[in-house]
Amino acid sequence: MSCILLTGGSGYIGSHIASLLAREDKDFVIIDNFINSKKSVIKRLEDTSNKKINFVECDIRNTKKLIKILKEKKISAVIHLAAKKSVEESILNPLEYYDVNVSGTLSLLNAMKTVGVKNLVFSSSATIYGEPEYLPIDEEHPINAINPYGESKIIVENILSDLIKSDKEWSIVSLRYFNPIGAHFCGLLGDDPKNIKSANLLPVIIEVAQGKRECLKIFGNDYSTLDGTGIRDYIHIMDLASAHIKAFDFIKNAKGLYVFNLGTGKGVSVMELINCFEKVSKIKIPKIIVNRRLGDVGSCFANPSKAYELLNWRTKYSLEDMCQTAWNFSKTNKLIK
Ligand code: WQD
Repeated sequence: MSCILLTGGSGYIGSHIASLLAREDKDFVIIDNFINSKKSVIKRLEDTSNKKINFVECDIRNTKKLIKILKEKKISAVIHLAAKKSVEESILNPLEYYDVNVSGTLSLLNAMKTVGVKNLVFSSSATIYGEPEYLPIDEEHPINAINPYGESKIIVENILSDLIKSDKEWSIVSLRYFNPIGAHFCGLLGDDPKNIKSANLLPVIIEVAQGKRECLKIFGNDYSTLDGTGIRDYIHIMDLASAHIKAFDFIKNAKGLYVFNLGTGKGVSVMELINCFEKVSKIKIPKIIVNRRLGDVGSCFANPSKAYELLNWRTKYSLEDMCQTAWNFSKTNKLIK
């Protein structure tokens, strides 16, 4: 029976993938150093899946421990999510980002090579595209990171490309996420970082709705978009998670390196997301327009057709589902410690 290693499996994206792996009775092990996720997520996964969740506390930079885990757990494939992902934090602390995201991935790849595990699904990001030169963005779009976080993802993708050239036995999929939001329908799993509060739009809207922030600051309404506010491709976390299961199935029969954009293909503005949240939550969100945020692009949304065709994957959930599930999780999460 093939066993999957899920690095960063107690994080936002990892825990939702774990919930699908458990539902599909797949054999997997979570590793996490819990630097930005809570150990309580493991218990919540067991409660939602009604299954024992195997996990080992491990930092991906500990190559020796990784080799031991890969061998002992008879790992046949890795879904690699363990990384730091805050654009703002990466600008303030680039060395930490290159250490975790690049050196950490190198440590994992060396451990996999040592043990002979050559199947990998890698968590990349649409941030690598920088300022869009055309829209929607397909996988051929020029790469041009504008912050250390995006740069760290480009470096890893280049490492993977060189690895494939050196050894054709590797099967690798790199998934370029657009804007994952929302939460599990059970209400127990969601975007719940341990240390750094998320600066992303929907988590901030929810903090305003909860009264934790006075009002929402809209970073600019002078973009050349319909209502002047920034446009992004928001994708439900459960749609994003299902793409990883499809990618895992895909690499069973495909040697080489494949990259896919994960988005809905639909651009949604800041105002549209706010309006949708207000409709779903029946809460008015006080807001003010402030200057643009450094590093922001005006519009960014995906052409997901390559993933649709090759991974036989489709997004299923609406913007309302994203807002509703995120809001439900924020209410449940407050009650459970
Ligand atoms: C969305 C829109 C803001 C907050 C991030 C990171 C990265 C990536 C995707 C993984 C923009 C506006 C936001 C606020 C606002 N994830 N906004 N007020 O910047 O597209 O990308 O998520 O790779 O983590 O690059 O997401 O949610 O921060 O911003 O007006 O308080 O909302 O200007 O137009 P972003 P975001």
